[in-house]
Order: sequence, then structure tokens, then C-alpha cells
Amino acid sequence: MPDATRARYLEALGIDLWLPRGAPAPAPAPVAAPADAEAEWQALKSEVMRCTRCELHKTRTQGVLGVGPRRADWLVIGEAPGAEEDRRGEPFVGAAGQLLDAMLRAIGLDRASNVYIANILKSRPPGNRDPRPEEVAACLPYLVRQIALVRPKIMLAVGRIAAQNLLATDAPLGRLRGQVHRFGDTPLVVTYHPAYLLRTPSDKRKAWEDLKFARSVYQQLTEGRASDGNRA
Ligand code: URA
Repeated sequence: MPDATRARYLEALGIDLWLPRGAPAPAPAPVAAPADAEAEWQALKSEVMRCTRCELHKTRTQGVLGVGPRRADWLVIGEAPGAEEDRRGEPFVGAAGQLLDAMLRAIGLDRASNVYIANILKSRPPGNRDPRPEEVAACLPYLVRQIALVRPKIMLAVGRIAAQNLLATDAPLGRLRGQVHRFGDTPLVVTYHPAYLLRTPSDKRKAWEDLKFARSVYQQLTEGRASDGNRA
């Protein structure tokens, strides 16, 4: 990823990002929880619905903020709404969403009760093309505000686009799996996108390893045990 692009992401995020292991740990700027969460959720929703920060507002049906309990230990982050999500106003409701729900259920998670699901972009890119850097930079502040509201204990980035943008890296997904990264203060684990898994079912086994890894990181966090940040 070019330095200028990375710099724009960093600026949009206003918080520290992942550094390769061995690099000195940065001093993270914590994202403060808003005092009036209900008002902030309402403001966020209406800003996303009215948003014209990038060209995507011209072709989307509606902004897609997220789904799930407003406070959740788990936050899953995908790429961008597809056609079905754009129509229904909810992330991951198409075929990939059904697989994501099944994957999450396998580790005891359900969007109705204990996991919040959002995307890097809140508006659908036409033809489901990859998000452009300026679209990501325009939209990331919404995600940062969501994270401050949801206050997850762990984040799961599904797919290359989510992982690379959250970690401000162009490392391939395969190299990002199996480690605990950080987004600001929050541990972040990476796995495959369910749409990719629908195309490449032979990698579902690896995705299951990732989910078990994420679950063990979460258990260690909540049981107060330290993790060395690597899969055993
Ligand atoms: N793919 C994503 O990354 N997000 C969605 O909401 C739907 C499909």
C-alpha cells in the first residue's frame, strides 16, 4: 500500500494501527466512549443515511450501518454492502451472510444476541467492485465511532479488504491469519471472507481454525490470561 494511502487511513482513523511484530509498541490513543450512547447511535445512523462523503451515495439505495446488539464483546467487520444488503439495509444478508451466520454460530455467536456486524464501507460499490482508497478514508471515521459505541473485546476481520484496511497493510491475507493484531486497543483476528469460502470451500477448514483461534483469544482475554499473540 502506498505511504500516502496509508497516511490517509491513519489520519481518517485518528488512532494507532498494527505494526509488524518486533516494531516498538505505539502509544495508542484510546477511542473514548461517548457520554450519551443513544444520541450518538442516532446521530451516526442519520449521518450514514445522509452521507455524501464519497461518490457511492449516487448509486447506493441506502447506507448500511450495521446489525447486532449495541454493546457486544465481538465485532465482525466485512468489506461493503452487496446488492441484497443495499436493498435490505443490513450487512451480510445474502448467500455470504448465511455462511457467515453459520460460521459465527459454530463459535456461539449470533447477530441477534452477542455479535455486532459492520463493514468498512457503508455504501455499496457499483457492481461489487473493490472499495477505492478515498472511499475507505471517507467511511472509516464512521466505523471508528461504531467501535467506540460497541466497545468490543475482540474484532474479527473477514476478508482481505477488511483486514488490509484495518491494519493499514498490503500483506496478503494468508500472512495476517493466525496472529493477534490490534486496532487501537482492541485485539483483531483475521479470517477469510465467506464469499471467498463459497467459491473455495476447500479453505473452510482453515477458516474454522481461525474461528477457533479467535474464540481462544477471546476466552483468554475474558479469563484474564495473557496470550502471546500467536496461534499455538
Ligand atoms: N460482503 C461484505 O463484505 N459485507 C456485506 O455486508 C455483504 C457481503
